[in-house]
Amino acid sequence: MNATITGWGKALPPSVLTNSDLESIMDTSDEWITSRSGIKERRISHVETSDMATIAAHRALAAAGLEPADIDLIIVATCSPDTLIPSAAAFVQAKLGAKNAGAVDLNAACSGFVYSLVFGANMIRGGTHKRVLVIGAEKLHYYMDFTDRSTSVLFGDGAGAVVLEPTEADEGLLSSELGMDGDSAEFLCIPGFGTIGDRVPDLPSEVGVQMDGQEVFRRAVTMMGDSSVRVVEEAGIGFEDVDILIPHQANQRIIDATARRLKLPSERVFMNIHAYGNTSAATIPIALTEALEEGRIRPGANIVFAAFGGGLSWAAAVLRWGTRTEPIATSDVDFPPSERTTMELLQPNFDFFGLEEL
Ligand code: UT7
Repeated sequence: MNATITGWGKALPPSVLTNSDLESIMDTSDEWITSRSGIKERRISHVETSDMATIAAHRALAAAGLEPADIDLIIVATCSPDTLIPSAAAFVQAKLGAKNAGAVDLNAACSGFVYSLVFGANMIRGGTHKRVLVIGAEKLHYYMDFTDRSTSVLFGDGAGAVVLEPTEADEGLLSSELGMDGDSAEFLCIPGFGTIGDRVPDLPSEVGVQMDGQEVFRRAVTMMGDSSVRVVEEAGIGFEDVDILIPHQANQRIIDATARRLKLPSERVFMNIHAYGNTSAATIPIALTEALEEGRIRPGANIVFAAFGGGLSWAAAVLRWGTRTEPIATSDVDFPPSERTTMELLQPNFDFFGLEEL
């Protein structure tokens, strides 16, 4: 018995923040952001993390031909939940009306979706669950300090979801590796939440992303490359058998380095970082959905997922796709209209971090 992906969906909020918008609020340039990261624009959400997750979930359920009541477990990978309690997964369970599902959040930062995919697949393999909804959803703009140009240009909002179901066919999760280097946590963190801090953080910057970009970059290249090589070997296939690498979208140069490690030409690597930036746990399910929409996944394809992020965490997996690459149905659930401009959505950040009103 294995677990395979039968449904997929994404939810990208309509408001766009371009590099040229960023040029108007900080000392940066489209040229710098594009050449250093590959990012051209990102989305800014007017709804909460669980709302994006729920829209992606509706679309994934339709693609699988299932109803919310068919799901028995929901895992939401996120580091930007609406509240700590209830979890984002609890909101999703209620908003979906998934009355037969248990629900839990998983925080492994940007590696969260691959962690959750492996957890969900192993619940199915263990026989305790039959239909698991795995979602990556983030409202990262909440954390963005636009007085810090080295981090705030990189991140965006969005959600993606997959449905996992049991299979006895030669498909599904073939291998995986979950890792953590907790000794290096300081290089990428959001220290302002949790019992470690004062009840009211005295330094506003503590609720923003703190990152040593070069250190994270170096480690990401090593972690993603090494773990990808190991899961490909563990799956019993060669690099030449890898049809597509769907990596975490944090930096185009990190993705290029990982692809070189796996000796994969660019046509066998999926990249959409230019459009959405780094949406943390949401990048891989969004990318998977777009790879399917673009016809880049054939029946029986061997897919490598590879991620890294805060913790410092990493995760990689090989999954063999099944036979169906088209959704069974589509959902008409969509975002509510947004009444505010992108800059109006960001005003609370400008106020909190002390950026002068535009
Ligand atoms: O999911 C995990 C999330 N984190 C990551 O993936 C981060 C991994 N790291 C990276 O992606 C890259 O390190 C960055 C894109 C963050 C930075 O690229 P870099 O090539 O490592 O640049 P750098 O940090 O070495 O900065 C080079 C220069 C500096 O100026 P000086 O000191 O050379 O004068 C920075 O102050 O670029 C400057 N800089 C900027 N300039 C214009 C930093 N941010 C910006 C900016 N616009 N937004």
